[in-house]
Amino acid sequence: MSKSIEVNNLNVYYGNFLAVEGVSMEIAPRSVTAFIGPSGCGKSTFLRTLNRMHEVIPGAHVEGDVLMDGDNLYGPGVDPVLVRRQVGMVFQRPNPFPTMSIKDNVLAGVRLNNKRISKSDADDLVEKSLKGANLWNEVRDRLDKPGAGLSGGQQQRLCIARAIAVSPQVLLMDEPCSALDPISTYAIEELIEELKSDYTIVIVTHNMQQASRVSDRTAFFNIAGTGKPGKLIEYNDTKAIFTTPNVQATEDYVSGRFG
Ligand SMILES: Nc1ncnc2c1ncn2[C@@H]1O[C@H](COP(=O)(O)OP(=O)(O)O)[C@@H](O)[C@H]1O
Ligand SMILES: [Mg+2]
Repeated sequence: MSKSIEVNNLNVYYGNFLAVEGVSMEIAPRSVTAFIGPSGCGKSTFLRTLNRMHEVIPGAHVEGDVLMDGDNLYGPGVDPVLVRRQVGMVFQRPNPFPTMSIKDNVLAGVRLNNKRISKSDADDLVEKSLKGANLWNEVRDRLDKPGAGLSGGQQQRLCIARAIAVSPQVLLMDEPCSALDPISTYAIEELIEELKSDYTIVIVTHNMQQASRVSDRTAFFNIAGTGKPGKLIEYNDTKAIFTTPNVQATEDYVSGRFG
């Protein structure tokens, strides 16, 4: 169920502003790819184009192609709602529905998709998704309690459970640990390692150690200055990016000598 991604010469605009220019990359199924680079270089912008989430921002649009297992996400007649069902997203701040129960949070995406689901199927899906997100043992006794009662790290795993409940093929994560303490961060990193066997995962992170711990491949993005578009500078095996980068700017960034 995990899919490959191929991006061909993608430009991303907010109205007339070219925010990201000329990105091409291939991402293998069942792999973790990290996006790194300074603030404002377009990591989030580019990530959102991988499930057409940018289209909720008026005026945002792309030129170029994004293929999933060869199918163009931007092809004529492709429904962005269907795309987002196949390509799930987890955000920087855990965003469970606060008053909704843990169980209903897990099912929220499935219900949004208008899927009718029997009570026993729903219970099975809740258990499977929470197990998949490594949260089941911590919440199995309080599935009917509000999602807001969980710790930040648990809430983020709840959001991951909600994302995987709709059986996506790709999971996008935009700095999923930036609001979490180190122990919760470790739990999410362990989870990413496990989810990799079923999903294609792309994660934006500001944490170099995290990129080197969790990812197989790393993409370094950079920006030449304010108002200039972000660009993909170097994309390679994570080990190569962190030990033997080909571009000076990559080396400066990963070694903390940025600027
Ligand atoms: N909703 C938006 N509307 C207009 N410009 C935006 C929007 N979101 C981001 N940008 C601009 O796009 C560029 C890239 O931003 P972003 O993708 O958030 O970078 P990063 O995630 O790498 O920090 C920045 O110049 C930013 O100001
Ligand atoms: Mg960002």
